[in-house]
Amino acid sequence: MDISGKTKVCAIIGDPVGHTLSPGMHNAAFKKLGLDYAYIPLLVKPEKLAAAVAGLRAIQVTGFNVTIPHKVTILPLLDDIDPLSRKIGAVNTITNINGKLTGYNTDAEGFFQSLMEHGVNPAGKNVAVLGAGGASRAISFILAEMGAKLTLLNRQAGLERAHDIASMIKTGIGREVQVLALEKMAAGLKGTDILINATSVGMSPHTENSPVPADSLREIPLVIDIVYTPTETQLLKDAKKAGAKTIGGVDMLVWQGALAFEKWTGRKAPLEIMRHEAMKALEKRAD
Ligand code: ATR
Repeated sequence: MDISGKTKVCAIIGDPVGHTLSPGMHNAAFKKLGLDYAYIPLLVKPEKLAAAVAGLRAIQVTGFNVTIPHKVTILPLLDDIDPLSRKIGAVNTITNINGKLTGYNTDAEGFFQSLMEHGVNPAGKNVAVLGAGGASRAISFILAEMGAKLTLLNRQAGLERAHDIASMIKTGIGREVQVLALEKMAAGLKGTDILINATSVGMSPHTENSPVPADSLREIPLVIDIVYTPTETQLLKDAKKAGAKTIGGVDMLVWQGALAFEKWTGRKAPLEIMRHEAMKALEKRAD
């Protein structure tokens, strides 16, 4: 689609933004549906966030994504935040409807959709989440909302961040969450139905690393990794070998994009085109 005077503009703001796959996914999706939209990356330093958001309002963007390090700090700059994102305390997608900026967390919604797509219902299941960063927070909230019995495993001495997520879930959703140190993995994983890696362990270039020793994976029926570089991590390879079903990080990446696309265009996202575009870019990167 050529850019015209009527082209609607979407963007991603972050620091860094050079690695983002979102422009490729969204522009391919706009083209597929013949929509006169364009999606661009914008490097925004933390100290320029307020100015950037004012600028995006001024130029009347249709919507934008927010990535590291702005997912939390942007909250007070928005006009409205959807209830789940408010509980999570982070957003990654903003809509601009008649000048009103509303924040959503399509990382969390996207994680939910990828579970649905694979026919996974975590209600009543023992779910272990590794890590207590931003991704873990979004995933843990949605799992708690879906009725999972959660255990958070974290490396950080003192486990403050994991306890913080647990107490936010207790307050926001009324569910108890168990918090364990990562060293207690063997005990923590006993009886686990679903294991989710929400740490960066195994991410390129340290692709030989896995957050879980291969022999601790026996008897876990489903293993999910949010890392998508590489598309199949060591953890997922080990899990497959141990007989588990696996879901990789590309799924969540594509779904968070698809849900943002739908909010901005009001059209159903061409999921396969977005997935194809993401995989193509990731394969090129791995060369
Ligand atoms: P994101 O927004 O992607 O979640 P993050 O906020 O930096 O990124 O969080 C990364 C998570 O991966 C953290 O929980 C981190 O552990 P700490 O809370 O102890 O810092 C976890 N992580 C990163 N490297 C790790 C490693 N080598 N072993 C275990 N956990 C690790």
